[in-house]
Amino acid sequence: MTSADAWHKAVTAAAELVTDEPVEPVIRQVSDDEVAITVGDREFRIPAECPHRKGRLVHAHLNARTLRVTCPLHRSAFDLATGCRVAGPVTGDLPVTESRSEQVRPEGGDTRR
Ligand code: FES
Repeated sequence: MTSADAWHKAVTAAAELVTDEPVEPVIRQVSDDEVAITVGDREFRIPAECPHRKGRLVHAHLNARTLRVTCPLHRSAFDLATGCRVAGPVTGDLPVTESRSEQVRPEGGDTRR
């Protein structure tokens, strides 16, 4: 195998690790007032009730690729990254907070350098 072949094989293997497949989101009720939505290493917190007519957002539909969350009651949709309304009868935005999961510390390891 030439070095060009080895390089092509390595690049092809790396490309196979990158996918456009959306990460399966997890939507869960964390309190009476709040729902958490996890997409990969991103976690969003939104109110438990839609600002339109209090649809239960724990039953919302989430498009993990576009980060668009859609209320199950009247289909108002919001951009999860900004909270902005993008469709439906609701007139306001959705308060959203985002956090990223912390770096996983290796067992017995130390993150100091
Ligand atoms: S309650 Fe959510 S769109 Fe009406």
